[in-house]
Amino acid sequence: MSICLDRRRPPSPDILDPIETASRDEITALQTRRMKWSLGHAYANIEHFRLRCQAKGVHPDDFNELKDLARFPFTSKDDLRQTYPFGMFAVPMDEVVRVHASSGTTGKPTVVGYTRNDIDMWAEVVARSIRAAGGRRGDKCHVSYGYGLFTGGLGAHYGAERLGCTVIPMSGGQTEKQIQLIMDFKPEIIMVTPSYMLAMADAMDRMGIGAGNNPLKIGIFGAEPWTGAMRGEIEARLGIHAVDIYGLSEVIGPGVACECIETQDGPHLWEDHFYPEVIDPTTGEVLPDGQMGELVFTSLTKEALPVIRYRTRDLTMLLPGTARSFRRMGKITGRSDDMLIIRGVNLFPTQIEELVLRDTRLSPHYQIEVSRDNHLDQVTVNVELRADQLSDASVNDSITRDLQHRIKALIGITTRVRVLQPESIERSMGKARRVIDMRPPG
Ligand code: DLL
Repeated sequence: MSICLDRRRPPSPDILDPIETASRDEITALQTRRMKWSLGHAYANIEHFRLRCQAKGVHPDDFNELKDLARFPFTSKDDLRQTYPFGMFAVPMDEVVRVHASSGTTGKPTVVGYTRNDIDMWAEVVARSIRAAGGRRGDKCHVSYGYGLFTGGLGAHYGAERLGCTVIPMSGGQTEKQIQLIMDFKPEIIMVTPSYMLAMADAMDRMGIGAGNNPLKIGIFGAEPWTGAMRGEIEARLGIHAVDIYGLSEVIGPGVACECIETQDGPHLWEDHFYPEVIDPTTGEVLPDGQMGELVFTSLTKEALPVIRYRTRDLTMLLPGTARSFRRMGKITGRSDDMLIIRGVNLFPTQIEELVLRDTRLSPHYQIEVSRDNHLDQVTVNVELRADQLSDASVNDSITRDLQHRIKALIGITTRVRVLQPESIERSMGKARRVIDMRPPG
């Protein structure tokens, strides 16, 4: 009996998995072995992938070392849509114990599936992520990522349980209740989108608690792009360590990569399960580490939905490991599909975020409206005063002028700026909506 319990006990939280500190040669050997399995598994069991390989004249037997991966076709969200709902699954349905789905902005959702082993591996990588973020067995972990088809809630939940935390499965919404439970249960850890954390901080102030008086120690934030400036704002306001967790449903969910609290220098990729590449988004060519491009993943151990060279659309670069042997990814500038092209200039919402946060009179909430007047794209940046900032015409004028000037000087576009009263900009309970595109389609 006790043996059984011991085996179920999570690894000692202070002791890393041996692979986290292994040599690069050991990591490469493991990746090569697992990659060969994953390519063979996908080829044997997913017709869509097999046909794509045949069209490219490549077979899993052609894979001998990691650089051979570049010969294999990419997978995209479109492949998942074309085979909706279960056509990319590589195991019989009776081995699929769970599905999740992400609702794209248009069309059908993408459906992802998990075997029991996949769920187990996912719990393992999320537990590793929480431990990297400073969480320990016995900590209480408040999960405000949405539960349901979105992978955030259940992904965080299973990982926190695996580490040995007490999970508070709150999900998103009911902001005042969230805060009441945080104050009463005194969790050490919160897992939530950075934008909703800020909305909760505002609510704490409104409720007279004061955002700085919360009991939390660590926030594990992801599911949307957020800048270093936003990290500074969250850490200062809430008095916590703000750690970046990354992931996407098609690859597993949260826990593809996570920052280590001791360095906070970009998420370490859990490369023993997810093999990263960065490619030139136009030519598809693999770029060397340190160069900015589109992040691509090949799953190494997934059974139900192995993904081979899945194009994430996320733009970043690969960096050498620091706190762990695994490589890191830079902060995500944005997704290529979120990039606005305004009169020929590329614009990411995160660029605006950094500039908004430089003005101490402004709250960190912002929204970008794009419209078309006389065939020309116009950008309006809606910003909001901080609650303690008195509003008058001269303050608003000065904020407008400063922000317009900074955007013009640093990004190169002319914008309108609208300074709104505190609490005017919509708050999200999950991923924030940063861009409202009012241009006619087409
Ligand atoms: O957002 C999974 C997740 C849940 C990650 C909770 C972290 C925490 P999807 O809904 O499929 O899955 O959206 C994935 O969200 O391709 C990125 O564009 C973005 N994203 C996720 N994490 C980060 C992050 C989840 N830390 C898409 N920084 C990804 C920037 C992120 N963007």
